Amino acid sequence: MSAPKKLHVKTYGCQMNVYDSERMAEAMGAQGYVTTDRPEDADLILLNTCHIREKAAEKVYSELGRLKGLKAKNPDLKIGVAGCVAQAEGAEIVARQPAVDLVVGPQSYHRLPDLVARAAPGAPALDTEFPDEDKFEHLPKARTPAARPTAFLTVQEGCDKFCAFCVVPYTRGAEVSRPVARLLDETRALVDRGVVEVTLLGQNVNGYHGEGTDGRSWSLADLIHTLADIEGLERIRYTTSHPNDMTDDLIAAHGAQPKLMPYLHLPVQAGSDRVLKAMNRKHSAESYIEIIDRLRAVRPDLALSGDFIVGFPGETDADFEETLTLVERVRYAQAYSFKYSARPGTPAAERPGVAAEVAAERLARLQALLSAQQTEAQEAMVGREVSVLFEKAGRLPGQMIGKSEHLMAVHVPAPDEIKGRIARVRITEAAPHSLAGNLV
Ligand code: SAH
Ligand code: SF4
Ligand code: F3S
Repeated sequence: MSAPKKLHVKTYGCQMNVYDSERMAEAMGAQGYVTTDRPEDADLILLNTCHIREKAAEKVYSELGRLKGLKAKNPDLKIGVAGCVAQAEGAEIVARQPAVDLVVGPQSYHRLPDLVARAAPGAPALDTEFPDEDKFEHLPKARTPAARPTAFLTVQEGCDKFCAFCVVPYTRGAEVSRPVARLLDETRALVDRGVVEVTLLGQNVNGYHGEGTDGRSWSLADLIHTLADIEGLERIRYTTSHPNDMTDDLIAAHGAQPKLMPYLHLPVQAGSDRVLKAMNRKHSAESYIEIIDRLRAVRPDLALSGDFIVGFPGETDADFEETLTLVERVRYAQAYSFKYSARPGTPAAERPGVAAEVAAERLARLQALLSAQQTEAQEAMVGREVSVLFEKAGRLPGQMIGKSEHLMAVHVPAPDEIKGRIARVRITEAAPHSLAGNLV
């Protein structure tokens, strides 16, 4: 028998790409491919790309420039581009980089094996359609034990919100929710493989409105409560949410559903109503804070995370101060902040921008505030007892790493067998990005 073909996947962007990369590896696994961490050993290299900011998109071309040299050593090597850059710039990619053999958009991954077979030297294969069928239903499922006790599960894709800065509605298409029955099957299969925590994914996951087991349309809260009935599944998370879809039943679930973890990523983007309006966010700073207050009323220890954009076209110093004020009021345990990046095809890209130095200075100020809040949230854990789901070995011998309910990384001296289990830990030390403690 000849050696199996090897696949190397490199993933950029959000968790949905991480999930998709796993599905692509499984699809190619069914064709006899095994995965490798080393691009130089691969017969097929897939870049699963992100288009969200200019830097992310440009990375793809520099990576392709590096990878094309590998073709001299292995003439059979095929290079594919998947993900959101593939969707947005498919034709441009093959024109700019002749080493690319195939381009596949996020909704066409079930067609990947066929595209790989079709791709020939000088005749790249391209598929960036939005087909009607659910790609996930046509992808093979893994049966082997899961590598980690925590897994992503895409429940919703696409976005109908059209924030003025964002490419996602164009790269991922309209909002589509997967039916509850399929998600139950997939979650049970994950639990059978050793998974105890799932993170439900969607570009607008709380806008979930999939077909329920009774044929009616179910909300994300309905889905969470039903998944929580699965024996062996201990923890449920979801990301990413839009404030306008934080419905009453979902807020209530944070107080009522013990398996729903007390951590929420709820991006607000900016604290000025004028900027929020220009961003087409369709919510105000006050309505966002009101949602946070209601969440904290039902779950006082809820850890919050957010996304921010500084230097959005038209943002004044006064607008930016309002973002700082909002951050002071909310107090985040963690957050992501970005300089606005003009994206081709989005409405905001047509508007005159803020000077680069001004945006850089605002970003530095915002990040200083957010990281001080993060440090405070981490330090507040010292002396407390928390539940940790152990995921893997730490850097030091005899050390294991896991995540607390609040999604903080925790290092603990513990035996290897603890992997995949949840145990109580007393926190003794806090660093900006991790905690240390001992088993109780
Ligand atoms: N669906 C999610 C976010 C998807 S993109 C939501 O609505 O919250 C992740 C984050 O990238 C966004 O929250 C935003 O903060 C940032 N982002 C998106 N487009 C951007 C752009 N053009 N420039 C800078 N940051 C951007
Ligand atoms: Fe982009 Fe806005 Fe949709 Fe989030 S809600 S994916 S930021 S358009
Ligand atoms: Fe990037 Fe596409 Fe995700 S643009 S953030 S990979 S949806």
